[in-house]
Amino acid sequence: TVNVKEVFDSMTYGPAPESSAEAMAWIKEKDGKFGHFINGEFTSPAKGFATRNPATGEELAIISQAGKAEVNKAVSAARAAFPKWSKTKGHERAKVLYAIARLLQKHARLFAVLETLDNGKPIRESRDIDIPLVARHFYFHAGMAQLMESELPEAEAIGVCGQVIPWNFPLLMLAWKIAPAIATGNTVVLKPAEYTSLTALLFAEICVEADVPKGVINIVTGDGKTGEAIVTHEDVDKVAFTGSTSVGRRIREATAGQGKSLTLELGGKSPYIVFEDADIDSAIEGLVDAIWFNQGQVCCAGSRLLVQEGIAEEFYARLRKRMASLRIGDPLDKCIDVGAIVDPVQLETITNLVKTHGGDGEVYHAPCDMPVEGCFYPPTLITDLHSASPLMQEEIFGPVLCATTFRTPSEAVQLANNTRYGLAATLWTENINLALDIAPKLVAGVVWVNATNLFDAAAGFGGRRESGMGREGGWEGLAAYTKPKTTAKKLAPVAPIAAPKSPVVDGLDRTAKFYIGGKQARPDGGYSKPVYGPKGHLLGHVGIGNRKDIRNAVEAAHKAAGWAKTTGHLRAQILYYIAENLSARAEEFAARLGEMQPKSKKHSGKAEVEATISRLFTYAAWADKYDGQAHGVPIRGVALAMKEPVGVIGALCPDEAPLLGAISVMAPAIAMGNTAILCASQAFPLAATDFYQVLETSDVPAGVVSIVTGDHADLGKTLADHMDVDAVWSFSSTPDLTATLEAASASNLKRTWLNQGQARDWFGKDGEGREFLGHATEVKNIWVPYGE
Ligand code: NAI
Repeated sequence: TVNVKEVFDSMTYGPAPESSAEAMAWIKEKDGKFGHFINGEFTSPAKGFATRNPATGEELAIISQAGKAEVNKAVSAARAAFPKWSKTKGHERAKVLYAIARLLQKHARLFAVLETLDNGKPIRESRDIDIPLVARHFYFHAGMAQLMESELPEAEAIGVCGQVIPWNFPLLMLAWKIAPAIATGNTVVLKPAEYTSLTALLFAEICVEADVPKGVINIVTGDGKTGEAIVTHEDVDKVAFTGSTSVGRRIREATAGQGKSLTLELGGKSPYIVFEDADIDSAIEGLVDAIWFNQGQVCCAGSRLLVQEGIAEEFYARLRKRMASLRIGDPLDKCIDVGAIVDPVQLETITNLVKTHGGDGEVYHAPCDMPVEGCFYPPTLITDLHSASPLMQEEIFGPVLCATTFRTPSEAVQLANNTRYGLAATLWTENINLALDIAPKLVAGVVWVNATNLFDAAAGFGGRRESGMGREGGWEGLAAYTKPKTTAKKLAPVAPIAAPKSPVVDGLDRTAKFYIGGKQARPDGGYSKPVYGPKGHLLGHVGIGNRKDIRNAVEAAHKAAGWAKTTGHLRAQILYYIAENLSARAEEFAARLGEMQPKSKKHSGKAEVEATISRLFTYAAWADKYDGQAHGVPIRGVALAMKEPVGVIGALCPDEAPLLGAISVMAPAIAMGNTAILCASQAFPLAATDFYQVLETSDVPAGVVSIVTGDHADLGKTLADHMDVDAVWSFSSTPDLTATLEAASASNLKRTWLNQGQARDWFGKDGEGREFLGHATEVKNIWVPYGE
């Protein structure tokens, strides 16, 4: 008799290939040549390049290369379509998105096969993961369009979106970009990656069938040059990019100062942590999905395995055994686990990385039967790597798992966070206390507990640090495609009161110091400048801050990192206390504001102090109410969308309302658990420097708020350059800061929130609220098992 185990052990696989006939017929229908999709029509195919099936090397079609002229044409079409589309009722847009979703489902098989032919991913994945998620994204966003008027009444579309996507999930990335953009009333020009344009072009046909109005969706094909032409196009209002961190950084620099809003979804080196009490079989199956799914060409791939020391040897042994049973080969074969690498160029990159640095560890290639032809790389495990090894730090973007061990949970966290990235993290343990203790400590936009690589339209996706900025999916993803409904007014530069011919000097000449690390500090450079009142009085001197002063403030801010872990209740109490202490000195502050600003000022000093106290109350109120959400994702659990502080925020404070403005910036930042480095109004700095006395008496821990004075252009640039600052905000009236700040922010891809030369009414409702709270937080989606 033969038992079941023996049957399994002796079973051999026969191929079960999916037919490519329909997909090939579709390509043949077009004579194997494709133009661009502009203004609802295909252009005639032009000079371009071949797209190939990486599993065979066979040429599939010729794709046109769009130059500036085609990009111009597409952007003009999108611009022309924008006024009408952005004013449609949400329901009109919902119907279009719904029609797209239905048609995607109707043609699901054709899409799946075409995707697999062009990209090399196993048909099981394109059929069961990519295409269903694409349809889900359009359904979900049909709902967002329907609800926009009631749920986001203050938001409106941004304009023309330039979207550039990669080749690893060609159609899914298209869906992530196009669905939220058109749901909220934007129009788009999208460029698929040069290796994988075909499903985007099939999607264009679906748009015609779904009656998408002409010009709302435009698809142009080409390489990086085409991408650059799109993202830097002056009539593109918003840029959304997914791809490598190096190109993301280049895009940040190239678009600096163009007034575009920008979201970047970039690389990662995501940790996969296995604690000794984990369900080992599940953790090993999880790894198959983490790093061999899509040949490891996944931005959030669990590519860094961290195993607790006590179980490491056994875990590696069982993992190697599992690897040996992975099947690699023809992606169209339904029995295949691992398909082809997208292109010979990528194959070479992977091969070279492992060849050059693999010597640092022990390299194990799964002993799979390798196809003789095509672009394949065996599933690989490299153990005993040092955490500083290039293989533990660089994104390989292939089926290569790099591993090391840890002893304690805190060491696991430290290793996990030891990277410049912060996209995703996976952790396995049967101990719920441990899981929920570790998840908040991981610097990542997404955390999966006892599962991995789960995606859903309802849960936002995106990274921290150099993994990019902004989220895709969920409510938070919509923020990237909308802007507040305000009529922009230009912000005129606010000049300080000029030095009078003969200054009135009465009483003591006070020199305001900086406030750094909870202490008063003299300017490092030893320079200061006089500040005069409108009647010619010398009001005092303020220090001119330099690089060193900012460095000190950043250091102090990092030492105060514990602030992020305090409760909202505690932060609320401190904000109330600040308000109370300001209130006790209201008259003095009001007088000071009166004597430092021109008499023509609309609001009196008294009114400004009152508004400031109210603002502190606003954020004391929000500190324990700006909650996250629990998303009902359709797979195995819930996604807890937790609001986390951004980190260290450096801000150039407004000049129009020197006290209210500074506090309008400080209060939301610290209410959400950030630390803030405030560069006081350049024109009227004394209002902020006086404020440190209020902070000192209000139990604000040292380093949570620092106040520096000086030249906004200098201080802003220093903050934007600094590798340990997480976000830069500017409400300064100094003109033309945007380009410099945005370009410098590319250093560590910090978030920027800049006024772009627009005024804000600090006394009115655009001086406070959710917009500020949104910029002061990042959403971390923690997927946890829940229910059945
Ligand atoms: P890439 O970042 O160069 O390409 C992504 C997209 O950007 C493509 O559509 C490309 O045409 C476009 N592009 C290239 N240069 C551009 C520019 N200057 N301006 C605007 N668009 C531009 O990625 P590539 O070279 O294909 O892959 C290289 C490495 O990037 C991979 O090995 C992997 O490490 C990483 N990568 C990461 C992805 C992710 O999802 N995080 C996706 C693709 C690649």
